Parts: sequence; C-alpha cells; structure tokens
Amino acid sequence: MRHAERNTEENGWEMQRDQQQDLRVTWQEDGECENICESFQLLQIDMGWESAKELPAESEECCSRNVLRKQRHWEKMVTAKKSKRKQEKERRKVRRAEEKGTTQQPSKRVLKAIVQERLLEAKESGPRLCIDLSMTSHMTKKEISRLAAQIRRLYGSNKKAQKPFWIYLTGLMSSILIYEECLRMNDGFSNYLMDRTPDSYLNLFPLENIIYLTPDSENALEEVDVQKVYVLGGLVDESIQKKLTLQRAQEHSLQTARLPIQEYMVKSVNAKNYHSATLAINQVFDALSTYYETQSWPDALKAAVSPGKGYVLRDIVQ
Ligand SMILES: C[S@@+](CC[C@H](N)C(=O)[O-])C[C@H]1O[C@@H](n2cnc3c(N)ncnc32)[C@H](O)[C@@H]1O
Repeated sequence: MRHAERNTEENGWEMQRDQQQDLRVTWQEDGECENICESFQLLQIDMGWESAKELPAESEECCSRNVLRKQRHWEKMVTAKKSKRKQEKERRKVRRAEEKGTTQQPSKRVLKAIVQERLLEAKESGPRLCIDLSMTSHMTKKEISRLAAQIRRLYGSNKKAQKPFWIYLTGLMSSILIYEECLRMNDGFSNYLMDRTPDSYLNLFPLENIIYLTPDSENALEEVDVQKVYVLGGLVDESIQKKLTLQRAQEHSLQTARLPIQEYMVKSVNAKNYHSATLAINQVFDALSTYYETQSWPDALKAAVSPGKGYVLRDIVQ
C-alpha cells in the first residue's frame, strides 16, 4: 500500500474511533442506548457488538474519564474567561466613575472592585506588613481568638485605606489553632487578599529590609518606607511576655522600631494612673496606615491610641 493511501486509511480509522468514543460517551451519560445503535447504523459503523450494552467496560470507563477531564477543563476555561471579563467590566466602570469624578455613590460591586484593585496595586508596589504568627504557642486559646479578631479588624482597616499595605501572614500552619480560629471567626478568611504562608518572614525577605515593630525598641519609627517590610508580633500578651519580640529580633540582628508615642504624646491623668504604649496589632496598623496616607504622626497616633491607654497628644495638653 502506498504511503498516502495508508495515511488516509489510518486517518479514517482514527475518525471512526473518535466517533465511536463520542457515541459511547453519549450512551453512558444519557443512557440512550437505542439512539446510539441507530446512530451507528446511520454512520454505517460496524462495532462488532450486538448492542451498545455490550461495550467493553474498561474502555468505556477510560473514555468517560477522558471526556470528563476535557469537559472539566473546558468548564474551568469558560469560568475563568467569564470572571476575567467581569473584572475588566468592573475596572472600566471604576475608571469611568473616577474620570467623571461622580458624586453618585458607587454600587457595592464597584466598591468591591475598587478595593480589590487597590489591594492588588499594593501587592505590586505598596508598603509591606507582615504578621508573625510563629509565637502562638505562647498564648492561651482565648488570646488566640482575640488575635484572630484583631487580624480581621486589621484587614478591614486595610480594605478601607486609600493607600493600603500588602499583608503577609507568616508562620501560619494549617495545623495551628490561629488558622482554625481565623477560619471560624473571620467570614471569607480564605478569600482575604493577602499572602498566607507557613514560612517565616526571615526566609521571605532580605534581613536588612526587615523592621520588627516592638514597643520595647529604643528607636522611634520616623517614616513608612515601601522598600522595607514591617513585622508585627502576632501576640496578645500585653503584660505576660515582656520584650518577647525585641529579643526575637535581636537574635536575628534585625532592625527594630516602636511607634513614636513618647515623641508626640504625653501621659494623661487618669483615675487608675494607667499608661501603656503597647497596642494591639490592629491599632499599630491603624497608626502605620494613617501615617502612610497623611504623613502626620499626630494624626496617626490619634487614630491608633485610644484614651484608655493613658496617653494624649501633646498639643491637646498645651
Ligand atoms: C500586644 S503587642 C505584644 C507585645 C509583646 N510583649 C512583645 O514582645 O511584642 C503585639 C504586637 O504589636 C506591635 N506593637 C504593639 N505596640 C507597639 C508599639 N508601641 N510600637 C511598635 N509596635 C508595637 C508589636 O509588633 C507587638 O509584638
């Protein structure tokens, strides 16, 4: 047989085989055995089986697996395309709304798209904040639940910010309680736009770019620098574990800084004579975020340090 003829004949066989497979799948999925047999007859395909019910079980299974796989892949592609189109549409809407400078309140969907866009921009070029969750074994279950709530508040503030940070949760193993608590207490936690990793911040960033924020540092933070990565200790232990993060940072020779509370605030007179410059992580974040937007430490500290901490801004006293 000549080469060209053999090719044509092989192609013909392949086409027949494909048609047979498609038909077998139809039979399997719809159970329309009679239709299939009829179709075979119309196509003049001799399957060598008395009826479609005699299809070899093994090949049937294999074909249906292949087709299902292809179908799933196709469905995935369609869904991805759809959501991309939707996102692009939302983006166009946002851009149009921004260009018009419209005073009209944008819809929830548009607002969500704006937030998403800002967060993704922060991922590319915004300041970075890392919550170090490697110390949760030092905490009680109650403290861990409080920490999960603080993470939710922190993320909520970041979503509202005009200039958000990109957030990393590091040391987050799926086996630890804080992960469970975040899932249990924080709606949509799995969809939070942030990085979650079991890895340590020490392995993610050059050490010279890391600034560990700790209330016990000697250095007052002066600015928020997008080249740096600011690390917060995932701790809710205001009194028990004094200087824990400072010691950790020193072990790895990291730079440390504290919020400039002493520089811009003074102790207020209060009945309990209570003064604490140790804040919850969401409050520290509010200070950083406000400072990054306003470039004003008084504004930032006003937003973050509640009166209960026993500090007031200097200019309020004067
Ligand atoms: C409740 S505090 C834990 C304090 C704990 N004793 C420690 O050793 O860090 C939680 C985290 O918020 C950050 N933080 C709290 N107050 C701060 C301040 N005044 N300046 C800088 N960071 C602060 C630190 O990262 C701290 O680890």
